[in-house]
Amino acid sequence: MSEENLLRIELFTETYETICKKVESISENEIDKLNYLEIKSLANELKNFHKFFWNLMETYNFPDKETYRTLTDNYLKELGEICFEAEIYNFKDTLKQKVKDILTNYLDNCLLNIDNTFLPFLNNTIFLKNLTLGIKLLDAQHRSLFVFIDKFISKVIENATKDDVEKVVQYLEKYADKHFHDEETIMKNSGYSEAESHIAEHKKFKNTIAHIKSQINGNNSELIEQIFKGLNEWLIKHILGSDKSFAAFYHEKSKN
Ligand SMILES: [Fe+2]
Ligand SMILES: [Fe+2]
Repeated sequence: MSEENLLRIELFTETYETICKKVESISENEIDKLNYLEIKSLANELKNFHKFFWNLMETYNFPDKETYRTLTDNYLKELGEICFEAEIYNFKDTLKQKVKDILTNYLDNCLLNIDNTFLPFLNNTIFLKNLTLGIKLLDAQHRSLFVFIDKFISKVIENATKDDVEKVVQYLEKYADKHFHDEETIMKNSGYSEAESHIAEHKKFKNTIAHIKSQINGNNSELIEQIFKGLNEWLIKHILGSDKSFAAFYHEKSKN
């Protein structure tokens, strides 16, 4: 990931948040508080934001990009037509009501959807790019852990039941057994000199899971939080650090 692309994503997230807040506050305004010049400048701002946004979707080849483009094009076109009408005649109450409706629909159907679809996609893409070791079996296993976290844990964090925590812990136990076994086998077979300290990190992760398992009858949301913290540390420190170091050794060795 180049620094330039990271900066663009950061800028996008910031701009996106500002735009959402602005559209929300204008769409919640009373009709008599709607100001034509404010709407006109918002319409321009939205045009620029979407240019930037589509560009980012193109770069990362977001699968739903065309749907978004058509949807936003329609909202922006409607808004542009109203601005044109308001300029020629005046900003009548009927036009103000239309602006309110367009902005509310645009916020719900388009902007807030970005939050649920494009932003997670962007995070996954960036994460997976950095995560790849170039060792097929291990990459597939790492990815499946990531998909599990994304699809399952993030949904149970709000109202985790004892059953949810049990399922998460069960999955992680099974995952750790299989994945660590496979990874450690590849490591030993390749004669990796850092294998011992790497295996110790795996053991630490297993101990954390065992500890969480022993607490299951306690406070579930606290446990889910502990799992999250542990996994976060795991993903960032271990996979991106220790697993990557091993992968570098492995590839170097395969060359000789
Ligand atoms: Fe791993
Ligand atoms: Fe590992």
